[in-house]
Amino acid sequence: MAGSDNNTAPCVPVHLGIIMDGNGRWAKKRGLPRSMGHKAGAEALRCITDCCRRWGVRYLTYYAFSTENWKRPKEEIDALMKLFDEYLDEAFTLEKEQTRIIFLGDKAPFPEKLRAKMEKLEKTSEKYDSMTVMLAMNYGGRDDIIHAAKRLAEYAAEGDITPSDIDEKMLSGQLYTKGAPDADLIIRTSGEQRLSNFLLWQAAYAEFYFTDVLWPDFNEKELKKAFEEYAKRNRRFGGV
Ligand code: FPP
Repeated sequence: MAGSDNNTAPCVPVHLGIIMDGNGRWAKKRGLPRSMGHKAGAEALRCITDCCRRWGVRYLTYYAFSTENWKRPKEEIDALMKLFDEYLDEAFTLEKEQTRIIFLGDKAPFPEKLRAKMEKLEKTSEKYDSMTVMLAMNYGGRDDIIHAAKRLAEYAAEGDITPSDIDEKMLSGQLYTKGAPDADLIIRTSGEQRLSNFLLWQAAYAEFYFTDVLWPDFNEKELKKAFEEYAKRNRRFGGV
């Protein structure tokens, strides 16, 4: 460990992605409705965002709602939309944190009021560069790549580029995460060991950290453990 106080972490990834899993099971274990698990999950998100800010994580991406999550019961979706709405209101007051907020995914299916808040928050926070929090909402990694490919096809059709101009840098520049570096570390909680369509392109060389801890129980101590494990990894990016 590089230090022992709360402001020091062993080895901090530049871009951390988190798949927040296990809210439903956390609630079930306590005989609570699933919505209470999500509420507790939102608390964990606040706590982990705060740790990451203190420890100097520059880009933090949360998988908050996938393109597949619309299949959930209406009352669960409504509860999640309410939590997102509350969180956005709170984020508007985070001026002092100097955090930029970006939403990854197509905003169109969200309720109009929520969508307007998402757009406003992106605009008002775009001046901040100390930390960027990306909330993947109505996000899917394949959808991200398709969306980027369509944009490039449009540019090619308009004659702005030729197909042979297309390379990794150009495609990356059309992803929802444009401007952010690839993910260095991806954490998934609750014992599941899958990517579930999260940051497929951006995770090409990411390290993975899986833990049985359910997301609402994931805290500063658990994050430190993940970073300590990450510090031991030997990242070769295809080299030797
Ligand atoms: C996965 O757990 C979690 C989600 C699909 C939603 C994540 C959302 C939050 C943590 C709410 C807060 C977010 C913001 C942006 C304020 P699950 O429901 O699939 O859990 P299970 O696998 O145990 O059923």
